[in-house]
Amino acid sequence: MRIYSKIAGTGSCLPEQIMTNMDLEKIVDTSDQWIQERTGIKQRHVVREGETTSTLAINAAQKALDAAGVTAEDIDLIVVGTTTPDLIFPSTACLIQNVLGCSGIAAFDVNAACSGSIYALSVADKFIQSGTHKRVLVIGAETLTRMVDWNDRTTCVLFGDGASAIVLESSNEPGILSTHIHASGAHGDLLNATVGVSTGLKNEPNGGLKIRMKGNEVFKMAVLTLGRMVKETLKANGMNKSEVDWLIPHQANLRIITATAKKLNMDMDQVIVTVDKHGNTSAASVGLALDEGIRTGQIKRGDILLLEAFGGGFTWGSALIKY
Ligand code: UT7
Repeated sequence: MRIYSKIAGTGSCLPEQIMTNMDLEKIVDTSDQWIQERTGIKQRHVVREGETTSTLAINAAQKALDAAGVTAEDIDLIVVGTTTPDLIFPSTACLIQNVLGCSGIAAFDVNAACSGSIYALSVADKFIQSGTHKRVLVIGAETLTRMVDWNDRTTCVLFGDGASAIVLESSNEPGILSTHIHASGAHGDLLNATVGVSTGLKNEPNGGLKIRMKGNEVFKMAVLTLGRMVKETLKANGMNKSEVDWLIPHQANLRIITATAKKLNMDMDQVIVTVDKHGNTSAASVGLALDEGIRTGQIKRGDILLLEAFGGGFTWGSALIKY
């Protein structure tokens, strides 16, 4: 009998502090109208001093554990999608494990930029399918505003902070039907943060750490790739577009989300949209949208969910799930 991973509970955490488009108008040469028209974003949550990727993640994880009706001792693996770890090491997963108090179980980070949530979900699903692990805490958490260049209007208006968590459980019933992950390192120069330990920090503010993106080119690739991704996912499961109840996309740009929904012949009321409130929270975004859909009662048990993401690397991925 096939072993599936089933979503037992979800949770999320957003920092209390909100930055609106009007707040950004005071910092860079931009306008609320431009940001809303080009991206759909109205506001984003921004961490305060003392808040980190792991503090947000721990909060989200606790809510997911509560929703699943389990405690940290019931978890046997932690996988965290993040590109903004608290530290180089220990990994964010280890920091989270320490606070949750489930010492001894494996815990590691996955860096796939904005596709981090799907990559982490895919890795966790493989562990459960193999039969070695029964209950996995899958987290997507980011504090991207810590590496945003607040002088660059082409990027600083896009990103926000947040964390999401999913408790995945082994089950004989579906479950995650399939996951699909891909990458193209050849496109790394279109979206990146080009400082690191090995290449060395720069003698600039924040060590030269900042996000750089050729937005227009990323946009075109994202729309094209996500269209192909949707086809690949449905084909692998012998399913039609009409069988998908909910699209739960990475929340980078409302225009990308709308284009993907159109390719699925889906109305926007079958799409969970949070980009207006959260901005692009990278690895946290798909999980944040999933949690919102579940907690608002829109997503119901038995619904077919298509999760997808595209991001720096390039990386991209999808998951088809019977909730
Ligand atoms: O999550 C990872 C994946 N990331 C994405 O999927 C993001 C993909 N890219 C995008 O979402 C869009 O390309 C952006 C929202 C980043 C940019 O939108 P766009 O429609 O592609 O704009 P553009 O880059 O072609 O820029 C159009 C104009 C430019 O001015 P000129 O050259 O036409 O005079 C920009 O300088 O808009 C200008 N511009 C701005 N104006 C006001 C760029 N940023 C801003 C801004 N406020 N914040």
